[in-house]
Amino acid sequence: MKKILVSDKGDLVLADAPRPELHDDEVEIKVVAVGVNFADVKIRFGYYSDKSRRNPEMGSEVAGFVSRAGRDAHRFAVGEKVFAVSHWGGGYAEYMVAPEHSVFRLPVHLSFEEGAAFAVTAQTAYHLVHSVAKVERGETVLVHAAAGGVGTMLTQLCALQGATVIALSSADWKLEKLKPLGATLAMKYDDDVVGQTMRLTRDEGVNAIFDGNGGAFFPNNFKMLALRGRVALFGNSAGDIPPINPYQLVYSSHQLLGFSMRAIAATPERYLDAYRWIFARLRSGELKIEIGHRFKLEEADKAHRLLMSRGNYGKIVLLA
Ligand SMILES: NC(=O)c1ccc[n+]([C@@H]2O[C@H](COP(=O)([O-])OP(=O)(O)OC[C@H]3O[C@@H](n4cnc5c(N)ncnc54)[C@H](OP(=O)(O)O)[C@@H]3O)[C@@H](O)[C@H]2O)c1
Repeated sequence: MKKILVSDKGDLVLADAPRPELHDDEVEIKVVAVGVNFADVKIRFGYYSDKSRRNPEMGSEVAGFVSRAGRDAHRFAVGEKVFAVSHWGGGYAEYMVAPEHSVFRLPVHLSFEEGAAFAVTAQTAYHLVHSVAKVERGETVLVHAAAGGVGTMLTQLCALQGATVIALSSADWKLEKLKPLGATLAMKYDDDVVGQTMRLTRDEGVNAIFDGNGGAFFPNNFKMLALRGRVALFGNSAGDIPPINPYQLVYSSHQLLGFSMRAIAATPERYLDAYRWIFARLRSGELKIEIGHRFKLEEADKAHRLLMSRGNYGKIVLLA
């Protein structure tokens, strides 16, 4: 089969590769569309490499047709339209395998590219908003990289929860797209973020911050956080985070909360609860899947360059 591999020079190239091995509890999917995640960039550059264990591959969310099922996988018939999440990835390919419990029927109102674009982003945003930061009606929240894949979902989910949303991005053209998604205030990182946030909240600060950026800006989160405010940290696209003194959390009763999708990988019922909630909002039109860019599978390198240069809005999808 064809698969995107990292060449000796570090480029992404379409090459021949063996079809994936299918275990008894797994389903093989003929990939039609695969979502590009920032984690794929990290995987490409060896961020998760560890000789002692299995390393993830690029491509953790796909949509397509069931092409084979393992001996203990009975829920799907060959040819069914599905979407899937796999923490071991492998979706930048003609075929990907995933454990049966993380494969789901593609709702009729969703296209393959939508299925590949929302599987991880909406699931991540759902848990961050509802079970990690527990956003409540009337609260004010701040979303970093609000114009990204996870960010566009977070912005909408917080607004649906009845929160006032402050959305951050690096570019004016991205900010313009965030108000229709429910952002009350959208600003750039060089716009005195802390000052403006404190003015908007009458010096009280925001109740929750969603940060998938990390990087040097991270400590500023605590300068604009209300008493008992929560910072939900779920990524570091902007690089390493400077050390912080945990004692600084005490005086204002701040909470720093980490989250990874891996935490729910083994609990399919939590996946399903979240997807049911999300499907209902997608059907009613309250929630939208923001796909900003589509590339052919063989253009994966181009797609990564767009993501690394902060040129993306919403989700990037590769079409096999
Ligand atoms: N914990 C989990 O389970 C989980 C699940 C999914 C994703 N994530 C994490 O969530 C974050 C967002 O993922 P995503 O796939 O949705 O990506 P994305 O937000 O669509 O793209 C990354 C965005 O990060 C911002 N950014 C800030 N500094 C950057 C830098 N130095 N280089 C590139 N981009 C930078 C850019 O937005 P602006 O230009 O608008 O600032 C860029 O568009 C990533 O850190 C990812 O690893 C975590």
